[in-house]
Amino acid sequence: MKIAICASEGAPYAKSGGLGDVMEALPAALARIPGNEVVLMLPYYKKIKENRKYPTEQVAQATVTMGWRKQYAGVMELKNRDDGVKVYFIDSEYYFGARTGAIYGDGDDGERFAYFSKACLEALLAVGYQPDVIQCNDWQTAMVPTLLKAVYRKEFPKTRCMYTIHNIEYQGWAGADFFDDVLGLPWEWRGCLDMNHSVNMMKGAIETADLVTTVSETYARELMYPYYAHGLDGILSNAAWKLTGITNGIDVNTFNPETDPALPAHYNADTFVEGKAKCKAALQEEVGLQVKPDVPLLVMVTRLAGHKGLDLLCYIARRLLWEEDCQLLILGTGEDHFERFFRELEAEFPERVSAKITFNLGLAARIYAGGDIYLMPSKSEPCGLSQMNAMRYGTVPVVHATGGLRDTVLPADEHGKTGLGFTFQSYNGDDFLAALKRCLHLYNAERENFQALQRRDMLQDFSWDKPAAKYMELFHRLVKG
Ligand code: GLC
Repeated sequence: MKIAICASEGAPYAKSGGLGDVMEALPAALARIPGNEVVLMLPYYKKIKENRKYPTEQVAQATVTMGWRKQYAGVMELKNRDDGVKVYFIDSEYYFGARTGAIYGDGDDGERFAYFSKACLEALLAVGYQPDVIQCNDWQTAMVPTLLKAVYRKEFPKTRCMYTIHNIEYQGWAGADFFDDVLGLPWEWRGCLDMNHSVNMMKGAIETADLVTTVSETYARELMYPYYAHGLDGILSNAAWKLTGITNGIDVNTFNPETDPALPAHYNADTFVEGKAKCKAALQEEVGLQVKPDVPLLVMVTRLAGHKGLDLLCYIARRLLWEEDCQLLILGTGEDHFERFFRELEAEFPERVSAKITFNLGLAARIYAGGDIYLMPSKSEPCGLSQMNAMRYGTVPVVHATGGLRDTVLPADEHGKTGLGFTFQSYNGDDFLAALKRCLHLYNAERENFQALQRRDMLQDFSWDKPAAKYMELFHRLVKG
């Protein structure tokens, strides 16, 4: 099958969050399936262009019409990828080259990514690739399915389109004039993109895509409710017949405690007791906590954003530290008030709390390895990847049972003989604390059971093989239909 994947980020070239991770592993997993041909399309950001690790060759060029303007698009093929994925970067000095270097955050992001969506289709034509399926992601490539139906039907007569929602909070809103001025679509498509007299590109994609998916089964169901859907619950309920959830995997080669170059000691499911003890001691030392092997180390690697459930942690933090002998380590940056809260908490409990307000992938890996318990009380979570990273490194998760967290962290019984971690149902600080205390009790009083739970976590199959097979099932259904 011929597959084209369009995304605004993809590791290792450009990544700001989970989408970048998925766009590293999913194309590769699809390319491993015999008979598939996989093309990945990404913007040629300045940082990629300037990075010598990514040599490219221009293989085509195209002209992209943006309202009344014409914009150039170069198609740059990456020369040194050897896993079967063909990577094309869309080169535009105007939209991606002469910019700050950040992936998002420019005042004209709406136009930049509308351009990118259109340029992807033009580039596919220019290189002569007729995909059976185009898979596109989030608001940034949300114009692809609408463009396919409204403008490019003749050029891609057989191509079907799957649209995947990773984050529904960002929908690609723009003023009503964007429709003519930037998109330049035939007038009869105005209603499809219109929402509250503005343009909403994600809404258009949900309506025009042949299939809509999101990144976990539970989240697909949650999206029918206003609490989760950020205004799109009605639109998604109408599209329920074509909405499916496929839970993400993680890149089990990158995230492997047996080989991860960032770790001070390596281990697997048979040697983790010793291996993790070494990693824990080194981590306590590195982040300025007291080096104490038997004090449970609670860890969190996260963007400090509201929906990650940090308000619950703030609410219980002092009680937790007064009532339990434990340490708390947080890594991440984000909203000012959270950064301040954790800095103050560190000042109050200098030997027991460490707040690393920064972005550091190496330290993140050492935290997954050196921690005992991983906290993820997200208010909502489409899938979440770090709970899987934590489990793969033998760190037991305590999570709010929502979205992908609910699908990946099966609840343990109180002795930890079944399940994978500790969960709480209602979004509430006291319930979070109670779940955490159940986990701490297991650690403190039934260490052998805690270790058996860690081992089960490490042995879970979080690889992309199963999700990739599910994507294929849907692709086949699309092509047949
Ligand atoms: C977004 C979601 C996260 C998901 C990731 C990859 O970042 O917030 O839950 O894991 O996308 O799909």
